[in-house]
Amino acid sequence: MARSAPIRSNGDGLSIPPEQVIFGLSETMCVVRQKLDKVAGANIPILIQGESGTGKEIIAKLIHVRSPWSSGPFVKVNCPAIPGTLVESELFGYEKGAFTGANGTKPGRVESAQNGTLFLDEIAELELGLQAKLLQLLQDGQFCPVGGQEDKKVDVRVICATNRNLSEEIEQGAFRQDLFYRINVVNIQLPSLRERVADIPDICDFLRQVYSEKFNRPTRPLSARKLEMMQRYHWPGNIRELENLIKRYVILGSEDAITVELSRTPSSSFVPDIPINGSVSLKKLTRQAMREFESKIILRILQAQNWNRKRAASALNISYRALLYKLKEAGVSARRTTGDVQPKE
Ligand SMILES: Nc1ncnc2c1ncn2[C@@H]1O[C@H](COP(=O)(O)OP(=O)(O)OP(=O)(O)O)[C@@H](O)[C@H]1O
Ligand SMILES: [Mg+2]
Repeated sequence: MARSAPIRSNGDGLSIPPEQVIFGLSETMCVVRQKLDKVAGANIPILIQGESGTGKEIIAKLIHVRSPWSSGPFVKVNCPAIPGTLVESELFGYEKGAFTGANGTKPGRVESAQNGTLFLDEIAELELGLQAKLLQLLQDGQFCPVGGQEDKKVDVRVICATNRNLSEEIEQGAFRQDLFYRINVVNIQLPSLRERVADIPDICDFLRQVYSEKFNRPTRPLSARKLEMMQRYHWPGNIRELENLIKRYVILGSEDAITVELSRTPSSSFVPDIPINGSVSLKKLTRQAMREFESKIILRILQAQNWNRKRAASALNISYRALLYKLKEAGVSARRTTGDVQPKE
């Protein structure tokens, strides 16, 4: 990739990688981009979901800078980081005398986000009582500071993020269903890095340049072999883990510094889920495992080849016909209009 533009800052200290790096080439991120284009300008709540380290905060910041409220503040509230007893006053502020030590009035983060964006990170961690207060804010833009007599009104765009499954949280009674409907007007689901392996080389190169400059350590682009290893790795910590790896590469100045981590595989892939007390058919299980393993490899290569079947067949060293047959067996549907393929939903 050509040298990327530096991380952009909008004056509020919002660091955002260039958009070609954020979205890359993967189909999954293309869907995210289209959604973001449509919703950034409208004052509706957005819920961003995705595994840890997939870039939820980056996307929230990007929505803010693309919104009509970009000249206003971007206020992040990291819900689990605020001690339980302080969350309410931190969020909604307090009036003089609200509690011992409240010698004056203090605005909360909701108020400081006036005419800007309020980013509620890890929203699932918010306790039920505060979820009710947040519901009121989302319904009519009103809230009452701790110890306050009257409601206050604000004009803020609310973006929430979580790496939890909110449907499960609702089932367990830990998250209010009515609040879920309010925050989930638009839902942006970020793919894991495993689902966008084609983007790994560009993200790596971008981060390498950023950290080479930051630490003043010139580095060479990673070798094709190392990038291949990266595309095979399972990235439990997603882009955050990739970023840490690149930092280590830049500081230590050697590809060997990241080899051990990339060679690690999830232990579960070597422990098949089989009934150990009854009898098993070794032949049947082995055939099934082979088929699953094969489709995983095929999908990985297809993703890396941006879902182009011809290039994937060539990369896999099998005929195009053989690939089509295997895709059919694996239940991968073809989108005839473009000649591309997508996994079945
Ligand atoms: N496309 C990208 N290119 C380069 N760096 C990225 C990209 N997306 C995210 N990052 C970087 O990866 C790290 C994780 O991103 P971010 O904090 O937005 O993820 P997150 O989903 O909010 O993570 P968590 O769930 O752990 O809070 C950050 O340091 C961010 O700058
Ligand atoms: Mg985050």
